[in-house]
Amino acid sequence: MLGTLALLAAPSIAGARSFQGRVASSAGQPIVGAMVTIQSGDPSHSLTVFSDERGHFATPELVSPPPYVVRARRIGWRDLRLTGQPAPVAAFDLTLERETDPSAVAAQLPANRWYRLVLDRIDDPDQREELKRQCTFCHQQGSWATRRTREPEEWRKIVALMGRMGGMVGRNLRESIPTVFNEAYAPENAVPQLTAGMGKPGFAPPPPPRVRAAVIEEWELGGRASMQHDVVFHRGEGRLYSVDMAQDLLYRVDPSVPGGDRQSWPIPNDGLPRGGVFRSKSRPEMPNTNSHVGPHSLQVAPDGRVWITLASGNRLAGFDPETETWQIHRLEDGYYPHTLRFDARGRIWYTLAASNHIGMFDPATGTGREVRLPSPTFGQDLTMRLLPVFLWIGRHVDIRDLAANTEGATTMPVPYGIDVAPDGGIWFSQLNVHRIGRVDPDDFSIEMLETPFPAPRRLRFDSKGTLWIPSFSDSKIASFDIETRAFREWPIDMPDAVGETPYALHVDRRTDDIWICGTNSDSLIRFEPPLERFTVFPLPTRVTYTREIDFDLRGRVWTSNSNAPAWQIEGGMPRVIRLDPGSVGDASVAHAGTE
Ligand code: HEC
Repeated sequence: MLGTLALLAAPSIAGARSFQGRVASSAGQPIVGAMVTIQSGDPSHSLTVFSDERGHFATPELVSPPPYVVRARRIGWRDLRLTGQPAPVAAFDLTLERETDPSAVAAQLPANRWYRLVLDRIDDPDQREELKRQCTFCHQQGSWATRRTREPEEWRKIVALMGRMGGMVGRNLRESIPTVFNEAYAPENAVPQLTAGMGKPGFAPPPPPRVRAAVIEEWELGGRASMQHDVVFHRGEGRLYSVDMAQDLLYRVDPSVPGGDRQSWPIPNDGLPRGGVFRSKSRPEMPNTNSHVGPHSLQVAPDGRVWITLASGNRLAGFDPETETWQIHRLEDGYYPHTLRFDARGRIWYTLAASNHIGMFDPATGTGREVRLPSPTFGQDLTMRLLPVFLWIGRHVDIRDLAANTEGATTMPVPYGIDVAPDGGIWFSQLNVHRIGRVDPDDFSIEMLETPFPAPRRLRFDSKGTLWIPSFSDSKIASFDIETRAFREWPIDMPDAVGETPYALHVDRRTDDIWICGTNSDSLIRFEPPLERFTVFPLPTRVTYTREIDFDLRGRVWTSNSNAPAWQIEGGMPRVIRLDPGSVGDASVAHAGTE
């Protein structure tokens, strides 16, 4: 409202509602594919468009209130930042200066480009795989915060701390980390490699026209100690829900309100202590967390309620947006409810990451069941069965060095992604042991299958019943035909793809386009199966770590910046993100019953 008044009151802008202009060099040459970002408000909302082949850009009509910060950014050029803009301007020409300092250009590159330098120095493919799987699931590797050289002793302390938080790696890899990381990230090694050909046309080419049609919006959400883990788009409400795993909050963002209306609700914790059922003497918490139940994933039920897995509270929570009341279901057998999906009967299916179970809960009847999955070895199975004992011990004794000093690589089976096939079958992945499996929705019988690639993470079905799976540590995606049992694989096509770790994918079931988290490269990646074509959409904020994807009714892609810790993110704040690929119509075909 205020914003509208201010706009009307400013006569000089003659009704401009959008920033439009041209991005060019000081010599007047157009700069193609620059990201022009207009930011306003606190917490901020920002909108980003790309300049076209003539350097022209135009934002959609701006509804968020002034003042605006305008930033133009393109690899190889210095960021231009203009603050305090009182109103949109119709002929807003932006002049960028070439960045001539190679280390500054290297710093503009996404983390995957740097991480590749580390991975290239690890000869053993199993260790390379382990490093990617174990060190890249909380935050990016190769980002500004992680790519410093450090004294070996500092590296050892960091690796021990990461191990105690869950990022354990085997002894050989652990011992090689100080040397490998220091050699890879030493500026005299890294910068020349990353900037070879700098200033020449082939270096960091602009994104293709189909990317430059995109409009990207970001809403800051929570604070520097937040971790916005997963998001879901509520199609009935037209609003986005997100859970803050570090602060036990459910958030809702209404994108139709200028700047975004944000609301939040504390998630009931039943008086559980910090750390929930996993509280222990030895497990350090993330800095500044206030997490008793650790909300992790969320989905919208057919009746419009929002259901959440409370990973460390070992509960499922249902939130009724109409009454703002909660229904809590305590789990009996398994530990760490992780990802959930609804079946066509309105039942919740969820993975239990710490105890190797799959669970089902029917909110209508209040009843459920959990089944233990097979482990590849007897030892793993025994460890899983003894988990309650370990948890008890951990509460009373400090076992931190046990956790941080594992000998071998970490391979406990971790049930991870889950989705419901059009025929009702429940399919899931077991992360560390490269398997997927199926639970029968009626008799709960289980079938397991090896994947020909490691680290299957968050998988999804397309409209025709083909299962799509990201390989987190092998930088590829795969399809799986549930009839013929055939896998097909596609390595992600992008510069330094080896440094990419796709965490999740989702299928836009109107088009069957696959959208993939460019988790370590500040991007969202589209794969069009008929063309076998990958398209990388760069996102405007550095250190954008994405874990989940959803779509609204117009096919716009929603995700969140979930880097943990949030302070490593450029600007220090988590965000939820909406990418409009540009070429979408207004089709309102809802996804099939599984959401
Ligand atoms: C369980 C989540 C998690 C995993 C897995 C993880 N980290 Fe971290 N990492 C963090 C957090 C949280 C911080 C911030 C710590 C702080 O500020 O106290 C961090 C910080 C860092 C930093 C920056 C430290 C600094 O001084 O700025 C480096 C480097 C790093 N991690 C490397 C690694 C490596 C190497 C691995 C694999 C062995 C790893 N991380 C795995 C959560 C994780």
